[in-house]
Amino acid sequence: MKPTKVHWETLERLRETFLAAKPNAPDYWKRMEDLRDYDRTFGLRIAWKWDAVLNELKRLRWEPPGGDWLDWGCGSGIATRRALGAFGCEGVREVGLFDRSSRAVRFSGDEARKAFPRVTFRELRANALPPRKPVGLLLISHVLNELDEERRATLVRLVRRAKSVIWVEPGSKIEARALSGVRDELLNEFNAVAPCTHSGPCGMLTRGNERHWCHFFARPPEGVRADAEWQEFSRRLGIDLRSAPFSYLVMENKRLKREPVSQRNETRVIGRPRVYKATLKVMGCNADELEDREAQKRDVPDFYKSCKKESQGTLYRFGLAAERIKTVEELD
Ligand SMILES: C[S@@+](CC[C@H](N)C(=O)[O-])C[C@H]1O[C@@H](n2cnc3c(N)ncnc32)[C@H](O)[C@@H]1O
Repeated sequence: MKPTKVHWETLERLRETFLAAKPNAPDYWKRMEDLRDYDRTFGLRIAWKWDAVLNELKRLRWEPPGGDWLDWGCGSGIATRRALGAFGCEGVREVGLFDRSSRAVRFSGDEARKAFPRVTFRELRANALPPRKPVGLLLISHVLNELDEERRATLVRLVRRAKSVIWVEPGSKIEARALSGVRDELLNEFNAVAPCTHSGPCGMLTRGNERHWCHFFARPPEGVRADAEWQEFSRRLGIDLRSAPFSYLVMENKRLKREPVSQRNETRVIGRPRVYKATLKVMGCNADELEDREAQKRDVPDFYKSCKKESQGTLYRFGLAAERIKTVEELD
């Protein structure tokens, strides 16, 4: 899919609204076409982020527990479609699509039914809270900066009712740190699945780490950067097509009594390693520390090369000596 025949002025208006990040701003889906234009552009960029998260979950061999799904603040419903594509529809009885905008609920329902005709999609009336039914998987995407404190708290209460949650947000510092805060609020009842390699308090929130944030980069599919329409999208809206920064959180309720998916000695690489002439620096998060560590090119030449090309993975086992990374094992 490409941004073919979209209304640029609509996308410019939406972009301004998203950048303004005003909690409780009025509904910006003015026509059904707005959702279509979003779905073909911003929505696809969000899909690349979801694909990165869903690939990571596949790599961790994590599957959502049984039960109905709920996509909260569904917009065009891209998160639901990507997640169903990745996990498959088997065992998914019903997916609730919830948004304060009735247009969004309708659009996401229509698109989801076209893509997955065998799944039941329930369009949840705007301005009503989702029904108090158990939720197997809660999907949340790019809503945090549209909510005031009270609505955020309501959403976190909804997460508590779910068996599991996948929550994807932009990779900016404010949203990423807010998501870390949500994670720690939920730790009594939930285990962290990803990106965290442990279910202890988030290292980002400890004193001294205020300047850091937990974020990653998704790559657009082949061909996007060379495509004239995507280039037009990038130029008009000031969006970099090289990568899409994101933050995310996947947690599952402790009541499920599942084994943790990560091992104690695994390290998640945060953001992008900084590559210098003969060394590199990597911010790594594991059960023991959140630490910026140096590695020398001659010790880890392949890792150095992949970091330089920005093609490194995000989960590793590092061997340390004298505070430096000396060996690297990528986990797959
Ligand atoms: C930026 S869009 C993201 C849509 C979709 N989740 C995605 O990732 O593409 C945010 C969505 O949240 C919805 N929203 C904002 N505040 C809401 C609220 N208080 N209750 C329900 N939905 C809300 C908006 O109508 C919009 O559809």
